[in-house]
Amino acid sequence: MNILFSFRYLIFVTVLAAFSTTAQAEEKNEAYAHGNQLVQESCTKCHSDNVYQRKDHFVKSFNALSTQVRRCKDNIGLSWFDNDTNAVIHYLNTKYYKF
Ligand code: HEC
Repeated sequence: MNILFSFRYLIFVTVLAAFSTTAQAEEKNEAYAHGNQLVQESCTKCHSDNVYQRKDHFVKSFNALSTQVRRCKDNIGLSWFDNDTNAVIHYLNTKYYKF
């Protein structure tokens, strides 16, 4: 392999890596926006966002958050797709819980 070739290869790989990081970031932003919208639409009837921020909130882990989101949404009979549920979990975790 000559030096010029390896250099080009390095640039190619770097550009690829940069693209995939941006794509992942965009996917996360979309999930955040989608989750936010679903929460505002469906999750403010019984409790406000304060419930996620109070000092003694009972959700203490990512798994517990995931379970509680499903419990609350099943309680009110929402038939969300998995990607809706995951978006809500991502939104609540990013904004409030930070596990
Ligand atoms: C039918 C009423 C109701 C609706 C609608 C509802 N919840 Fe809940 N949720 C509750 C109750 C009751 C609790 C427990 C509150 C408490 O302990 O004071 C709770 C608690 C939670 C918690 C845990 C808070 C903590 O202490 O960490 C999360 C997370 C949560 N809800 C998410 C959601 C999401 C997401 C939605 C929308 C799909 C939703 N809830 C809609 C009744 C509801």
